[in-house]
Amino acid sequence: MRIVVRSGALNQVHGAIRVYGALEGEQTLEKLWPAAGRELTQLAQGAGVRGAPNETALLPLGKAWVLIVGLGKAKELSVDRLRQFAATAARTVRARGHTSLALPVLKEKVFGTVEQVAQAVVEGARLGLYRYDKLKQIPKHEQGKRIDELILVAEQPGDVASAKHGVHTGEVIAEAVSLVRDLINGPSNLVTPTVLANEARRIAKDHKLKCTILPFEQLKKLGFGGIVGVAQGSQHPAQFIVLDYAPARPKATFALCGKGITFDTGGINLKPAAKMEQMKYDMSGAAAVLGTLQAAATLKLPYRIIGIAACTENMPSGTAQKPGDVLKTLSGKTVEVLNTDAEGRLVLSDCLHYAKRFKPDVTIDLATLTGACVVALGGEAVGLMTKDDRLAQRISQAGDRTQERVWRLPLWDEYGPAMKSDIADLRNVTNTGEAGTITAAKFLEEFTEGLTSWAHLDIAGTAWTERDKPYVPKGAVGIGVRLLLELMRSWN
Ligand code: BES
Ligand code: ZN
Ligand code: ZN
Repeated sequence: MRIVVRSGALNQVHGAIRVYGALEGEQTLEKLWPAAGRELTQLAQGAGVRGAPNETALLPLGKAWVLIVGLGKAKELSVDRLRQFAATAARTVRARGHTSLALPVLKEKVFGTVEQVAQAVVEGARLGLYRYDKLKQIPKHEQGKRIDELILVAEQPGDVASAKHGVHTGEVIAEAVSLVRDLINGPSNLVTPTVLANEARRIAKDHKLKCTILPFEQLKKLGFGGIVGVAQGSQHPAQFIVLDYAPARPKATFALCGKGITFDTGGINLKPAAKMEQMKYDMSGAAAVLGTLQAAATLKLPYRIIGIAACTENMPSGTAQKPGDVLKTLSGKTVEVLNTDAEGRLVLSDCLHYAKRFKPDVTIDLATLTGACVVALGGEAVGLMTKDDRLAQRISQAGDRTQERVWRLPLWDEYGPAMKSDIADLRNVTNTGEAGTITAAKFLEEFTEGLTSWAHLDIAGTAWTERDKPYVPKGAVGIGVRLLLELMRSWN
């Protein structure tokens, strides 16, 4: 899809579907669209347009087609409404078999600067149009249905340059999120740890990053006992991926760690059959880390960013670890594996310990870590655990701006003793099942000694959706990429 920026009034654009926004509860469209005037208002009224969020009406106006999309109530406008507006518009235009649309660069204070508006519109449109269709045949009548051109129309010529900047940022971010969605939607027979490693190599080559990959045999030799314990039951060799984006004179160093279980059967503590197929998304943390590095390097962020992804399957087999086994992690701490299904914390323990060698200012891990987080927060909030209030605030604000919202849970030390073992330093599950999300984080915290500032993000409930949303089609969400990029872009 080609994206171009122009200046002028929307009704001067020809050959593309013009998209107007309608506010709920307003009698006329003229306030938002003085240039389009009474004609547009009459058209909208005739069609019974109410302006409810994401309501659509495709209507003929003179020789052209216009699409009116509901923006909701004026008081409830937000940058997220704008993303949804663009997504709904693009999807509707495509579904009706048109190939080109013109969207306004709406200058409303709540949307932010012209640059931010353009970024939001591009993210909304591109992410809304995303689909995972590489594994099926597209029916004949669907084949031509694709958007070739998106025209952003800025009122003033002086806004074009800023809008173009926003378009570029939006395209880079949407591209990264789409890559992450592809990796997550891809089934585990096609997206193996080796495939993730090759993707990391591709990113490194395209963007001149340093890439280190430690395969299973190496991990065994080097004492990565956490990931090795999980990986030893699988036919696919584990891959420990390290991507290092190091611009000249970085202002800070971030380490991003991702859980990369390409399929979580539970291991010998086998999961029940219902919805087990969804466990291909247990590598969403690792995928988000790869996507974030790709976008950060393309946008030339002035920070050193280390991406660490621990990738393996969790399988039952004759070589798999068994309940009660004790392993020795890279940190030297021993763990009694009382449930082989609590494998994410095992692989992450090695990631967090490994991160220490880069002396990061900030370390953040992302993981589809606990079913308890799905129960507690569902699909609307990422679980955030950290002892650093300032970092919590920054992540929370980035979440509000991107609509990848987080909700903080306590990391109080009183939760710690539940993870102590009688025969090893730690056990990987509690014996009560209480506070599963927090106790998992307490386990991880044991491996962060010496790290300056650390936050854990549990994305188990937010990485996958069974409900279609305007710019998040069913399936992989790609959660984390926009959140982390926003956090880093606004760091100073
Ligand atoms: N990958 C799962 C967590 C999960 C569950 C993610 C549902 C997404 C949706 C994780 O490895 C796991 O199985 N955790 C166990 C931990 C338990 C054994 C302490 C869980 O949550 O049941
Ligand atoms: Zn598991
Ligand atoms: Zn898992």
